[in-house]
Amino acid sequence: MTFFEGVREDIQAIFERDPAATSTLAVLLCYPGLHARIAHRINHWLWQKKFKLLARWLSQVVRFFTGIEIHPGAQLGRRVFIDHGMGVVIGETAIVGDDVTLYQGVTLGGTGKEKGKRHPTLLNGVFVGNNANVLGNITIGENSRVGAGSVVLRDVPPNSTIVGVPGHIIYQEGKRVLITDPRDVKDPLSDVIIALAGEVREMKERLGLVEGAPVSQDASEKHLRAVRTLAEEDGERDQYRFTQKPFDPEYTEIASGI
Ligand SMILES: CC(C)(COP(=O)(O)OP(=O)(O)OC[C@H]1O[C@@H](n2cnc3c(N)ncnc32)[C@H](O)[C@@H]1OP(=O)(O)O)[C@@H](O)C(=O)NCCC(=O)NCCS
Repeated sequence: MTFFEGVREDIQAIFERDPAATSTLAVLLCYPGLHARIAHRINHWLWQKKFKLLARWLSQVVRFFTGIEIHPGAQLGRRVFIDHGMGVVIGETAIVGDDVTLYQGVTLGGTGKEKGKRHPTLLNGVFVGNNANVLGNITIGENSRVGAGSVVLRDVPPNSTIVGVPGHIIYQEGKRVLITDPRDVKDPLSDVIIALAGEVREMKERLGLVEGAPVSQDASEKHLRAVRTLAEEDGERDQYRFTQKPFDPEYTEIASGI
């Protein structure tokens, strides 16, 4: 594929993914993501030809004009679309597949603890929402989506959606994933919840309240359920609120206006 064929594909990708793209001239003039992509093709070529300082310096010049910092060593696939772009950082050993979309503020960075391949690999069709951080030598599976503002520190299987800090998977292969075990969340706070859950269970056991199946479930189990309607979900939340109120008068008082 020639340089110009690559650029033409990039422009086409912008038309396909951004309804605000009105004309080729507007795309050529107003999309810093496209400018950064074009410059990266040159910088990456220079990097491979061992003109490393020149390539790095040029990538900083591009950063000045676009707000997008792509290390010249990073490998970007075809039809990668960086929308808005400001604040995007793509590290040296990052690999970005074909048809990937990145929004402003996305960091494909290192954790500061690794050497060698220390930046993420995004497989084809991945979508990363604005200000998300994907950190370390991890892989985001094909067609997976990273929510805005998330911090992803672990591999993500294909066709999944991950959100939150730290990121947890909420959809996998079209099904909603419910976290029912705090050990599934790799967060220091979840340690506190795990300890509390253990104490609650112990107290229930002492009071003879535990019947039949164990209260806590194996952390390795995957808890999948079909996607439900909003009305069903609202019903579940109402029920939760209703059952919580009698045990927590303060909650009722604070939340009474909601
Ligand atoms: C992650 C994302 C793709 C998920 O979209 P979706 O599949 O339609 O998911 P839903 O909207 O049904 O959300 C599912 C759940 O995840 C939560 N969620 C969605 N996005 C989230 C995010 N970024 N961070 C934290 N939680 C999020 C929702 O609150 C919802 O929780 P609930 O079921 O407990 O109410 C989307 O929310 C997102 O973040 N898109 C990025 C958009 C963007 O960057 N735009 C920039 C424009 S300039």
